[in-house]
Amino acid sequence: MDDKEQGIRKAIFDKVKELHDYRKSRETFKIGESTITFAGRVYDEKEMISLVDCALDFWLTEGRFTIEFERAMSEYLDVKHTVLTNSGSSANLLAVCVLTSEELGEKRLRPGDEVISVAAAFPTTVNPIIQNNLVPVFLDIKIGTYNIDTAKLEEALSERTRAVFIAHALGNPFDLDTIMQFCERNGLFLIEDTCDALGSKYNGRLVGSFGDISTFSFYPPHHITMGEGGLLAANSPLLTKLLRSFRDWGRHCWCRPGHDDTCGKRFNWQLGQLPFGYDHKYIYSHIGYNLKALDLQPAIGLAQLEKLDDFISARRRNFEYLYLHFKKYEDVFYLPSWDQKAEPSWFGFPLTIKEKAGFSRNELVVFLESNKILTRLLFAGNILKQPAYRDIRCRIVGGVDKTDYAMGNTFWVGVYPGLTREMLDYMVSKFDEFLADRI
Ligand SMILES: Cc1ncc(COP(=O)(O)O)c(C=O)c1O
Repeated sequence: MDDKEQGIRKAIFDKVKELHDYRKSRETFKIGESTITFAGRVYDEKEMISLVDCALDFWLTEGRFTIEFERAMSEYLDVKHTVLTNSGSSANLLAVCVLTSEELGEKRLRPGDEVISVAAAFPTTVNPIIQNNLVPVFLDIKIGTYNIDTAKLEEALSERTRAVFIAHALGNPFDLDTIMQFCERNGLFLIEDTCDALGSKYNGRLVGSFGDISTFSFYPPHHITMGEGGLLAANSPLLTKLLRSFRDWGRHCWCRPGHDDTCGKRFNWQLGQLPFGYDHKYIYSHIGYNLKALDLQPAIGLAQLEKLDDFISARRRNFEYLYLHFKKYEDVFYLPSWDQKAEPSWFGFPLTIKEKAGFSRNELVVFLESNKILTRLLFAGNILKQPAYRDIRCRIVGGVDKTDYAMGNTFWVGVYPGLTREMLDYMVSKFDEFLADRI
């Protein structure tokens, strides 16, 4: 880039900062009038400038920001490879698709093979199992952790079990010791849906670095955002190659956009029934998709990554504030709980109303929302009760009573870094007000 262009860019960035500061100076928050949301974008001029910097390149597709983001995420997670995609749902889809590849030989998943999961799920954790003609096997969760109840794992196992695919619910690491041992003992793949758990640790190690493949989401409520975006992490070079192939139309070639002949034998391949030397760029070894992201997305993500440690600390601080406050309401709520080895980087603060509380979730949630405090449910609840899942082929092992209980009685409020002490004070004061008439 020459001096002239650098100067023009600098002038544009200065204006972007000016716009950011102007907007910031006009932001107002009025307690009781402004909405206290459960999550949201937390950013400053750095994200805006990085986005504009990328836009000015006008490269648009996978480029310098993607390469740097993947490098930074691999380093952060301490995994060998990461692959950017356009959403967490796409990451989940790719994670399952690659396990069906013929290149995995005997280990590959075939139609009718079973994947252990939970019914208390986000839909696109379960959907890829169904979309790949595999059979989800649902176990129940525990109230408090909202993670898989591992007691019935052995019972869930069948001759067709090939993988476990579960999420760290609301940022709370599932029992990785038990799940890893179970997978290793039975030769199963583990996919960790880490979409809600960036920064959470288990045994001092970041979640998302344990499974064969793990997935992340950068949709705005998540720990860092790029608007839309997702990531896959894997240590295996083969799985990584397959992830890129399924993501990029199913092609055999692995050149980044704008590059040719990375393999050094572009016109010298002999594959399938293709004529010798058929351009490698147009050789397809999988029935793939196009789930690539724009370079604009990691441009935002890189600036967010700089803030990740502060974000995680803020989430933990806000969680702790709420936890300490809600301790006195243990008669009416099941409070969140977590494994001794877990250090969650919380996505939200979940509460479940106890059987004898004397009020319903709807009463409480409607009261909070009417006071401008936004709430959310535990995603799809029992996904089997959702209209789309009525007729799916699946197995349920040991019943899903707790999942059903959560579907009727669990909700969560925010802990995201945009919450100030004033907002948290107001939030708990509204809970106090509601509960004062009922306890
Ligand atoms: C556990 C879980 N998995 C997957 C996803 C999907 O991510 P995305 O919204 O980026 O598609 C979400 C979304 O929030 C999620 O919470």
